[in-house]
Amino acid sequence: MVHRVQAVVVRAKNAPLTLETILVPDPGPGEALVDILTCGVCHTDLHYQQGGISDSYPFLLGHEATGVVSGIGPDVTNVAVGDRVILNWRAVCGDCRACRRGEAQYCFNTANATQKMTLEDGTELSPALGIGAFAEKTLVAAGQCTKVDEDVDAAAVGLLGCGIMAGIGAAINTGNVGRGDSVAVIGCGGVGIAAIAGSTLAGATTIIAVDIDQRKIDLALSLGATHGVNSRELDPVEAIRALTEGNGANVVIDAVGRPETYTQAFYARDLAGTVVLVGVPTPDMKIELPLLDVFGRGGSLKSSWYGDCLPSRDFPMLVSLYKQGSLDLDAFVTERVGLGDVQEAFDKMHGGAVLRSVVVL
Ligand SMILES: NC(=O)c1ccc[n+]([C@@H]2O[C@H](COP(=O)([O-])OP(=O)(O)OC[C@H]3O[C@@H](n4cnc5c(N)ncnc54)[C@H](O)[C@@H]3O)[C@@H](O)[C@H]2O)c1
Ligand SMILES: [Zn+2]
Ligand SMILES: [Zn+2]
Repeated sequence: MVHRVQAVVVRAKNAPLTLETILVPDPGPGEALVDILTCGVCHTDLHYQQGGISDSYPFLLGHEATGVVSGIGPDVTNVAVGDRVILNWRAVCGDCRACRRGEAQYCFNTANATQKMTLEDGTELSPALGIGAFAEKTLVAAGQCTKVDEDVDAAAVGLLGCGIMAGIGAAINTGNVGRGDSVAVIGCGGVGIAAIAGSTLAGATTIIAVDIDQRKIDLALSLGATHGVNSRELDPVEAIRALTEGNGANVVIDAVGRPETYTQAFYARDLAGTVVLVGVPTPDMKIELPLLDVFGRGGSLKSSWYGDCLPSRDFPMLVSLYKQGSLDLDAFVTERVGLGDVQEAFDKMHGGAVLRSVVVL
């Protein structure tokens, strides 16, 4: 059976989003059909619209989602019909060279649904990050479903499916932030503020929020940052050094992903410190750094794909911390909107008005 459902599509580079009827097949081997409950609006969806990710239009957007499994393929055992799940874009294969080294968080062969969802005329859709959850139903690989408790707000925990996990993981998993560390986070959108939350969980004692938008800095200060730096007004490198006894931070997280923010991160960290790039650059961006500074400053320059998370390990753990009151996921849900409101949510994200708009179906 094919399901006809409403979904948010972008047909060409910079084309306006359209609400369309799409066709979703029943799950085959290794697949699960999921009735979407909530889907957060992540900056990466906007990158897809703007052509920053690939040219495989039309895209079915949305990838930060919760849902209820409504069908499974014949061989699927990790989830059952009726399970509440967070969707993930890291269904690890267990057999690639990363998995065989015991580093499944880098899995180079993650699974997505094999069958294609299409437009009504049969045109195949490219689901954002292999998910495509601005839709009433979507088809994923069963491993993309992580079962979680049902007695929590779906809109809040669904954010763990992408941006919030990426931010928390950038601090905890990639940056290896530890007790007493100093951390600076450049860019305080959903991802950056999640990196601040992750740094708090890890026991960092100096947490510096940097943004060009004072509203985001104020929000960051209310959600765990100990200091704020407006980089429209101050040189962030100088400011971060001044707040860390002249040294620079142990870990600097670039949650913007532009040449200028990466360069700031590079120079704002202490000697032998760590830079974590979690913001996603676009294909045209380049950086130039004196090689002697790369050598002379030591430490590590790391990138954080999805916060180096393992969904089956990290989602249930973070849902537990949320239920215990140690991780305030509710604070990330600025507004709840409908499926037809995603373009407007992009505009609000661009205008700096929201941390996360969450589409609720
Ligand atoms: N690595 C991953 O796995 C992963 C996962 C999800 C999102 N991302 C990426 O993370 C980035 C942030 O996503 P988001 O959803 O938080 O976006 P967002 O638009 O909500 O937030 C971006 C923030 O950066 C600030 N900013 C912009 N330019 C700046 C500058 N020059 N200096 C300082 N601050 C600046 C903005 O004011 C805003 O507060 C995006 O590039 C997104 O694609 C990466
Ligand atoms: Zn693998
Ligand atoms: Zn995302």
